Amino acid sequence: MSLPVLSPEQAAVFGAIENSRAHIFVTGRAGTGKSTLLEHLSWNTSKNVVIAAPTGVAALNVGGQTIHSLFRLPIGVIADHAIEQGPEVRKLLNAIDTLVIDEVSMVNADLLDAIDRSLRQARQRPHEAFGGVQLVLFGDPFQLAPVPGDPEERAYFADRYRSMWFFDARVWDEAELTIYELATIHRQHELEFKKLLTAVRHGVVTAEMAQRLNDVGARPAPSEGAITLATTNATVTRINAAALAKLPGRSLSAVAEVSGEFGGRAYPADEKLELKVGAQVMFLRNDSGGDGRWVNGTIGEVVKIADTVTVEIDGERHEVRPATWERYRYSYSAATKTLNKDVVAEFTQFPLRLAWAVTIHKSQGKSYDRAIVDLGQRSFAPGQTYVALSRITALEGLYLTRPLRPSDIIVDENVTRFMSKAVALPGIAAAQSATS
Ligand SMILES: Nc1ncnc2c1ncn2[C@@H]1O[C@H](COP(=O)(O)OP(=O)(O)OP(=O)(O)O)[C@@H](O)[C@H]1O
Ligand SMILES: [Mg+2]
Repeated sequence: MSLPVLSPEQAAVFGAIENSRAHIFVTGRAGTGKSTLLEHLSWNTSKNVVIAAPTGVAALNVGGQTIHSLFRLPIGVIADHAIEQGPEVRKLLNAIDTLVIDEVSMVNADLLDAIDRSLRQARQRPHEAFGGVQLVLFGDPFQLAPVPGDPEERAYFADRYRSMWFFDARVWDEAELTIYELATIHRQHELEFKKLLTAVRHGVVTAEMAQRLNDVGARPAPSEGAITLATTNATVTRINAAALAKLPGRSLSAVAEVSGEFGGRAYPADEKLELKVGAQVMFLRNDSGGDGRWVNGTIGEVVKIADTVTVEIDGERHEVRPATWERYRYSYSAATKTLNKDVVAEFTQFPLRLAWAVTIHKSQGKSYDRAIVDLGQRSFAPGQTYVALSRITALEGLYLTRPLRPSDIIVDENVTRFMSKAVALPGIAAAQSATS
């Protein structure tokens, strides 16, 4: 699928990244095209860029490497432990101009400080932040936060940091972070819905706004074609298993082919995918055929299972073949003096997942035309309700299993503090935000 043409503000941020050595944080509300811009950057930059992400799935989505494997860091808090670096890692880290990190809202302060120390050490520039490497960070802190970890980890953060967030890392005492906020939302087009979502994001939902969302959402969900967004894995598994069991016929399973070092839980799809004719499924990748028959997040129904799986999307049938996800590792070649990106592992499976339900966590980054938002007993993480609601492309597509309550809308005050410093790009974005 081809990428959309960059909007003027996206193009301006791309230019800013290309033409400066400043550390940049690209942020913006859900659907403002952060991921689209990152993909454009990865194809079009003239810099020696390395792309990394906090989780295996996020890394696969952007064709990058996890931060832990790129820097060979141990799991858990790194604090001031010595960082071990072999010659390979040192050479690699020396060849980087720019380190791009996607989904940076899930990177904690300790990890960002470890990245800083690794780069200073490898590049033998102990007095320069990130050893002179430019950082370009992408994400939205009003969406999902770093995972809090065990009680010991929490105590460490409480002791040493103002908060767990990447923007409270100590390295920022020595370096400056320039924030660019994309202002135009591309996922939704209704002004009213965009305003409602923005209020949920900032925790400033009035009684009338809540009423409007609840009025729209309070109706029977369609029996087909809508995905449930739930807070816990347990709820998702229960909904999917029950719906699959209700279908007549036998279920067939496809087992993934895995080669190389994929690492623990970082599979991008089910290792054993159980399907039946009639199952509601979601695509986990864009159509590789290039015709854009589906994108990552498209919902359809299985109509035939053979060597391939036939999926019906909006009345049209498409034959789906297994897809291969490649896990990359960057290395440095002394001979050619270039950065190389090599495939170190492959995972092959149908790019499908049962999709009567998905966790809000896994729905990050996606778009759905219709969704049933199930906040269960309560929404329990900052940003959770915002992520769920902002996946839906139009107000007409919103269904709620119960009315929203004020306690469902949780905003982390550290995020509000930091983001109050964000400014839209002068000129271009300011002009656009007046109409978005
Ligand atoms: N310049 C553009 N023109 C048209 N459509 C665009 C443009 N940029 C992004 N989009 C579309 O808007 C939707 C949201 O874009 P994208 O996923 O990049 O946003 P995001 O900021 O990463 O959102 P999230 O915070 O939810 O991850 C996608 O469907 C994308 O194709
Ligand atoms: Mg995104």
